[in-house]
Amino acid sequence: MQNDWKVQVSHEDGIIKYQNIEYCIGQILGSGASAKVYRAEKFINKIKQNEDVALRIQNRYFKPNYELLNQLKNFRWKNTTYPIENIAGGFLYTEYELFEGNLSQLETEKIKNNIFEIAKTIAEALFEIHNSKFIHFDVKPDNIVYKIDQEQKFKFALCDFSSIQPLDNALTQELFIEATPQFAPPEIEIQGYSINTDQSCDIWSLGMSLYNLYSEKFMFTQDNLDKKKDQDFIDSIVDRDIQDQKLKSLIKQSLKVQKDERINAKDFIDQIKNPQNERDQPIQKQSSQKSAQFSQSLVQSTKAIEFKKQEIVNQQNLIKIPILQSLIEEAQKIIQNNSNKIDNNNTITQKRQKQSCLLDIPNIIF
Ligand SMILES: Nc1ncnc2c1ncn2[C@@H]1O[C@H](COP(=O)(O)OP(=O)(O)OP(=O)(O)O)[C@@H](O)[C@H]1O
Ligand SMILES: [Mg+2]
Repeated sequence: MQNDWKVQVSHEDGIIKYQNIEYCIGQILGSGASAKVYRAEKFINKIKQNEDVALRIQNRYFKPNYELLNQLKNFRWKNTTYPIENIAGGFLYTEYELFEGNLSQLETEKIKNNIFEIAKTIAEALFEIHNSKFIHFDVKPDNIVYKIDQEQKFKFALCDFSSIQPLDNALTQELFIEATPQFAPPEIEIQGYSINTDQSCDIWSLGMSLYNLYSEKFMFTQDNLDKKKDQDFIDSIVDRDIQDQKLKSLIKQSLKVQKDERINAKDFIDQIKNPQNERDQPIQKQSSQKSAQFSQSLVQSTKAIEFKKQEIVNQQNLIKIPILQSLIEEAQKIIQNNSNKIDNNNTITQKRQKQSCLLDIPNIIF
């Protein structure tokens, strides 16, 4: 396929050619209302690059969005999948850092274990986006991607900038905002034009995403969208479904019907970092589980030592000092052995990660 807008992009048999770059399209990673995202091998001057990339092909092309995406390339906001190449054409091609999938595809247990890391990552992304005077307008689990880095740690990022708007536009114009009904705040008109929206909109959507990720429920569906302005209803649902006190508090401060009462991104991050609030974190639970495991192992170790001691005491011709030395050595061995077992278990759990993919075959339709 050839086009004559700004640059030449050609597509043959799953290969996108653009200037001296070629993308060899692999499996589809995800698709939404307007775009498909593929894993792609990248070749520059026919030389294969070490890292595969995510190639996003937007099929509902319109120019203002392209200009905006071109600007985004320069921002490099923290914790976002910012575009690396912007290739205009009959379609909009954008290359991003490759992630594994989105949060709707990740197992709940892994989400819950990382819920504060997710919350902090997205709040940090929003803090930078908001500082640059933009509003994302479509924060939701589908638009948060994850991967596991070389140290076997989860990495998260905010993606999908197709609804983004400059703050100035939102404050001064009526906007047709392409938000997702379940995650959009009450001030956004789903089928029409919204006025006087601002960055607190993203905070509501972050709170709603965390609610959804943790509870596995949708607070709002097509049948009860009118309840979006009922603060008592919202608070009672959060009280019912979110047991973790710190998370509950963050979600409640985000889901304020009055947008001026919502917490901002900076305070959101500070509250997560505040050690006073850490008592109820699942991460903490994890480590308290770990310390519970450790104390259990200590109890076992102590019992084993007692048993050994008794064995030695029962021996005839008891000599005190060597016994004490051998007891200490024995205790050290048992404790070391038990803590190795705990570490091995943790590594095995971390390795059991889901490889997500939606479809196996390339699916490009021009
Ligand atoms: N960098 C990436 N690495 C891996 N997967 C990605 C990446 N970016 C996006 N995806 C996957 O592709 C899906 C669709 O991408 P994206 O959200 O950008 O487009 P979209 O939802 O179709 O856009 P729109 O909101 O305009 O309809 C995401 O939900 C995610 O699963
Ligand atoms: Mg999307």
